[in-house]
Amino acid sequence: MTESLSLAGRTAVVTGAGAGLGRAEALALAAAGAAVVVNDMGDGAQEVAAEIMAAGGQATAVIGDVSDWALGERLVHEAVSTFGSMDILVNNAGILRDKMIFNLSESDWDDVIRVHLKGHAARP
Ligand SMILES: NC(=O)c1ccc[n+]([C@@H]2O[C@H](COP(=O)([O-])OP(=O)(O)OC[C@H]3O[C@@H](n4cnc5c(N)ncnc54)[C@H](O)[C@@H]3O)[C@@H](O)[C@H]2O)c1
Repeated sequence: MTESLSLAGRTAVVTGAGAGLGRAEALALAAAGAAVVVNDMGDGAQEVAAEIMAAGGQATAVIGDVSDWALGERLVHEAVSTFGSMDILVNNAGILRDKMIFNLSESDWDDVIRVHLKGHAARP
């Protein structure tokens, strides 16, 4: 027997949700009843938030870089002040630098560490 999951009354934050897997995760969480704080660096965040609301769900967009400590604080604040709580965090935002260590530049290394390590820690 398949039981449907209800996330009604819960709030989810999804980073990098303006496209790709993050967008799919945000739409799925909204379809399950969660209010969603949709983050991305570009306009995609607003487009996905609008898509959720057009389907009858609750969403708000926060544009910014997850490796910015202040953005992490804004995401939590937006969830709590707009929807009353923050229950779910999907640390989805990421970048791909598809190289080996011997042909990876220092700036590529710094970008990956910034987004994937600092970006996952920046949640006050
Ligand atoms: N697609 C895959 O096969 C695969 C496999 C393993 C892991 N992943 C990981 O899953 C995540 C999503 O992958 P995807 O294929 O959907 O990627 P994608 O490039 O299609 O989407 C990533 C989204 O994250 C956003 N983003 C990037 N850096 C950001 C930042 N600093 N702050 C806020 N938003 C940021 C981008 O603007 C983009 O909208 C990534 O972390 C990726 O590394 C993907």
